Amino acid sequence: MCGIVGYVGNRPCIDLLLDGLERLEYRGYDSAGVALLDDDAALALRVRSVGGIAELRGAVARHPDAEALQASRTGIGHTRWATHGRVSEGNAHPLSDDGERVQIVLNGIVENHVALRSQLRRDGAVFSSETDAEVVAHLVAGALDRGLAEAVRHAIAQLDGHFAFVATSPQEPGVLVGTRRACPLVVGYGDEERFLGSALVGLPDDLRGAHALDDDTVVVARADGLQVLDARGGIVQPRQLLLADAGAHARPSRNGHDSFMLAEIEEQPQALRRTLRAQAAAGWDVGPLARARRVSLIACGTSYHAGLVGRYLLETWGGVRAETDVASEWRHRDPDVGPGDVVLGITQSGETADTLGALRVARERGAHVLGLTNASGSQITREADATVLTDAGPEVSVAATKTFVTQVAALAGLSLRVGLARGTLTPSRAALLLDELERLPDVVEAARAASAAPIERAVERWSDEGFFLFLGRHVGLPVALEGALKLKEVAYVPSDAYAAGEMKHGPIALLREGTPVVVVATDSPVLDKLRSNVAEVRARGAHVLAIATEGAAGVIADEADELVLVPPTDPLLSPVPATVPLQLLAYGIARARGLDPDRPRNLAKTVTVE
Ligand code: F6R
Repeated sequence: MCGIVGYVGNRPCIDLLLDGLERLEYRGYDSAGVALLDDDAALALRVRSVGGIAELRGAVARHPDAEALQASRTGIGHTRWATHGRVSEGNAHPLSDDGERVQIVLNGIVENHVALRSQLRRDGAVFSSETDAEVVAHLVAGALDRGLAEAVRHAIAQLDGHFAFVATSPQEPGVLVGTRRACPLVVGYGDEERFLGSALVGLPDDLRGAHALDDDTVVVARADGLQVLDARGGIVQPRQLLLADAGAHARPSRNGHDSFMLAEIEEQPQALRRTLRAQAAAGWDVGPLARARRVSLIACGTSYHAGLVGRYLLETWGGVRAETDVASEWRHRDPDVGPGDVVLGITQSGETADTLGALRVARERGAHVLGLTNASGSQITREADATVLTDAGPEVSVAATKTFVTQVAALAGLSLRVGLARGTLTPSRAALLLDELERLPDVVEAARAASAAPIERAVERWSDEGFFLFLGRHVGLPVALEGALKLKEVAYVPSDAYAAGEMKHGPIALLREGTPVVVVATDSPVLDKLRSNVAEVRARGAHVLAIATEGAAGVIADEADELVLVPPTDPLLSPVPATVPLQLLAYGIARARGLDPDRPRNLAKTVTVE
């Protein structure tokens, strides 16, 4: 959460900063700001505004010192997702000390900020924001007589929490100092210029190289050089080279669509193809999974829904005991996990604080820790014993779409290989399932085409409804959960998702004449039972949108007011095509309500706070 950028070099950098921030906006977009050093005047010019980067550009253009801003060659920038302190210009970053000797941009949380603030106040500091991050500016400013790099090293020794920040000071023109602890920070090199940022995507295309920084190291960047210091001040080499990773650096594009969400839904067949190819090429060792006493799939949000499908795949194909849990619950409930267990964290961003926290619990207790992520070079790749990568390409829309289907495909590929290794699957059955897996991109393409007309009608009919109920059973349940989550987050429609068999135990009371009920009725061992549940819903006057498998629609078709038929595949893979119409439904209703699906209120794409 929050995106940070920094530049030091020989070019005027305001546009580089603003362009970088725009590409990092998915990390937060409630307010933004930049600070640029004016070398002649030996001061920092700061511009902040509430809103996104478009608003910040306006504020920069209107600034009385616009000329000096345009000329500056050292600067930092920030796009915020508020944690401490409401959304306001005063709480936007960059933040400075009261003497404006230091400007900082920070991503993360300073957990001991209350104690530090009291101490700093006692020492005479005057605070101007409600943020936790401002203490960092005061701490660095207080130690500035040691030089900016030493002052930053001194400050982080006093901080608890997880953060990445970049500091600059008019007292040291031409220098940026950055550091990180459990939040990402990357450095990029150009000719006579250096860049810092939360992610490679925030840096320009034409870099000569880039590294990820290690925890608690301090980077000192100048136009012509870069030095990395460890916690004791010794010089170290950054270890993780990033730039080889063209995928993560690929520029996201709307591909002619009106939103990233729609472009990313449309791109799912290609994302699946890339992921399946990458997985085939990776030659990943499934030994630890195949030998596991139990596999715990731990994740948040949409990744948790992929994990719910993964449990079926690992148990049925892989023949290994599996459980799926939400990271923020699992890690705090004294989980029974230890040597012989595998804990697989699923996180598209690779940075989700609770998922990473859960993996640390697992590691402390002796479990083998695996990661499944779409972001090579992300934190999870550094912390897990091994990482499986999906290759969905950068996902910009806050609502996860293509990363969900690729996560499910990757879990299917793993389960298949575990099943072969454990003998749960015969080679001929595994070969058939592999064919099905490889057909998934085409199946998804066909599901999208088949969804277009019925989903358009559903949007027209139900976009003003105040409530939706989603029902599913077996692997249809995670699809129902995912459909309801998408509708809540991008269209703000209250929705609930339930195991259809549980409906009679409470939620059926919500139904009235005309309540829209979305039923995921793909091929499954409990399809007949689901049919009865749909009949019960209809008997209460609800209107049914059914997602069914072609050829197995049977009675469901008679019970549905609107029907989407998705092509058949193996029942355990059906969540992949069945999710597509629900993504389109959420997108369509958001648009019908005049909402921007890429920018849901209150959300950020990367949740680096607990
Ligand atoms: C929903 C969504 C979120 C994420 C969740 C976990 O559309 O995007 O629910 O799935 O924040 O994020 P990752 O996968 O990055 O750990």
